[in-house]
Amino acid sequence: MASFLVYYGTGEGQTAKIADRIVVTLRARGHDATGVDTTETPANLTLDEYDAVLVGASIHGGKHQQAVIDFVDANRDELSAKPTAFFQVSMSSATEEGQEQAAGYVEAFLEETDWHPDRIAQFGGALRFSEFGFLKRFMVKQVVKREMPDLDTSQDAKFTDWQAVEDFANDVAAFVEGRLGIPTPDAGSSADQQ
Ligand SMILES: Cc1cc2nc3c(=O)[nH]c(=O)nc-3n(C[C@H](O)[C@H](O)[C@H](O)COP(=O)(O)O)c2cc1C
Repeated sequence: MASFLVYYGTGEGQTAKIADRIVVTLRARGHDATGVDTTETPANLTLDEYDAVLVGASIHGGKHQQAVIDFVDANRDELSAKPTAFFQVSMSSATEEGQEQAAGYVEAFLEETDWHPDRIAQFGGALRFSEFGFLKRFMVKQVVKREMPDLDTSQDAKFTDWQAVEDFANDVAAFVEGRLGIPTPDAGSSADQQ
């Protein structure tokens, strides 16, 4: 068994849902996994007690959460000494045309933090128009009109491929098991679609 930290930033909650699914998948594989939201970081959080760390962030206005960047900056040396992974959640990853944009966000993050995670994943997020305030709804609809003209903005849009999230968690787990010399268990599918 290995211990995993899944540290993430989230604006409207989709990255939190994805982090939860990763935690559930890792636990189903027999590991210890803890999810920590940047806004609820315990004062005594230390990476010493974890064998591996996954870091997640979503994109707003082309940027990742500053708290996630600060976390990587503050812990770069420790992260470099452990198996690590990064996952990014954005609207760009939801479309074929957006792939280059999404990859650019990842590149900018890695360049800014000077961090080299062992595994990287990009997931489509969600646009829960029904939960946005007036201004955010207006703003996002303007962007959607430009980037995803065919999207029906009268209802919430969910783009996350949950199988891809589970596959990523299992791939990271297999990598960590290999590094630590832990036997690979049988992985099962973990939870309902969200
Ligand atoms: C105000 C706002 C701005 C956004 N800006 C971008 C953007 O610049 N590029 C992009 O690909 N996605 C953008 N998105 C889409 C988010 O990345 C997507 O909704 C994601 O699921 C958010 O994850 P979170 O709920 O964990 O914050 C934006 C979403 C909102 C609400």
